[in-house]
Amino acid sequence: MSEQSIDVPALRKDFPILDQYVHDKPLIYLDNAATTQKPQVVIDRINRIYTRENSNIHRGVHYLSNQLTEKYEQARQRVQRFINARHQHEVIFTNGTTHSINAIAYAFGEKYIGPDDEIIITELEHHANIVPWQVLCQGKGARLRVIPFNDRGELIMEEFEKHINNRTRLIAVNHISNSLGTINDVKQITDIAHRNDVPVLVDGAQSIQHQKIDVQQLDCDFYVFSGHKVYGPNGSGVLYGKEKWLEELPPYQTGGEMIQKVTFEKTTYNELPFKFEAGTPNYVGAIGTAEALSYIESLGLEAIEAHENDLLQYATSKLMEIPGMKIYGTADRKISVLSFLMEGIHHYDTGMVLDKMGIAVRTGHHCTEPLMDHFGIEGTVRASLAIYNTREEIDQLQQALLKVKQMFS
Ligand code: ALA
Repeated sequence: MSEQSIDVPALRKDFPILDQYVHDKPLIYLDNAATTQKPQVVIDRINRIYTRENSNIHRGVHYLSNQLTEKYEQARQRVQRFINARHQHEVIFTNGTTHSINAIAYAFGEKYIGPDDEIIITELEHHANIVPWQVLCQGKGARLRVIPFNDRGELIMEEFEKHINNRTRLIAVNHISNSLGTINDVKQITDIAHRNDVPVLVDGAQSIQHQKIDVQQLDCDFYVFSGHKVYGPNGSGVLYGKEKWLEELPPYQTGGEMIQKVTFEKTTYNELPFKFEAGTPNYVGAIGTAEALSYIESLGLEAIEAHENDLLQYATSKLMEIPGMKIYGTADRKISVLSFLMEGIHHYDTGMVLDKMGIAVRTGHHCTEPLMDHFGIEGTVRASLAIYNTREEIDQLQQALLKVKQMFS
């Protein structure tokens, strides 16, 4: 482990939104799996684009356009280094995780999926990593196969070998479950898949902000994430793909900038990465996301992991002190997500009362209905912790939950 540790009180000053009252109570923001707050450096970076630098990129002969094009390509290099992609043209900017998964579902589906083919997903997936594959399978007469998880919320790894056969075309799996916090062993999954010549798409929406990502080490074929979950702006995201796949796949959107030559008879496509970036890209989002990546790199990914792991252990023990508490998701390897229910109290009621106490959590199925079906529940209360959260906030969550319990008993 590195010697670096996080100075949380100092770091909290970087996030202006945290310093406010909600319902006359100091805000305690525990909804980070839904979206993270933005440090001032990211807000300033976006502000600077609109006040001094704005211009459409890749199109102008003029100064502003050339300058911002360079910044956009530097943002791509920053993402490349952050995830350790082999080439910068393996990084495609999109609008977010959902957009990236849909892009691959369309492009991969067009080229490689036919009747009776199979795609493997898992019972742990977010709807964004279920529905695009389901729709693709329905359209092509293909089948979706689902790897189950055990009651701790861990994938049953032996099931991968059992489900893979000569019709399997792709495995799509999340790195970390948004509802339970389980960290899946993606490396083991890519090893199994590649032994069977099957590519793997990894939904990194919940991993990019919590641990060091090395796509070459994971050996995944695609890795996707959103800027807004990693302290960057909303509406930006990344689709990483190994060069050989991106070269082979057709564009999923067509329009300006993705072309090499257009005539009314025929269009030829641009080289990577531009083949997959039709239209004016969200350059503000991409540059803002790169700034957010620099910010968390300056804190140190190992230090972030250590801090969040400490919060997870602390919060788990504090919550378990509450009689009638049940935590969903108790995997050996998990991140700082606590999904729970208190006996006899509806998740929505708990969330509403917490809100009145200034505590922001998410309630419901968290876009993972099949996962909730596994447990036979409608939803949970979810507290998801990030770099700026503290043990004191966990103490206040515990006190607030005890009050909720009192109110409803
Ligand atoms: N996927 C986001 C969440 O888990 C919105 O809350």
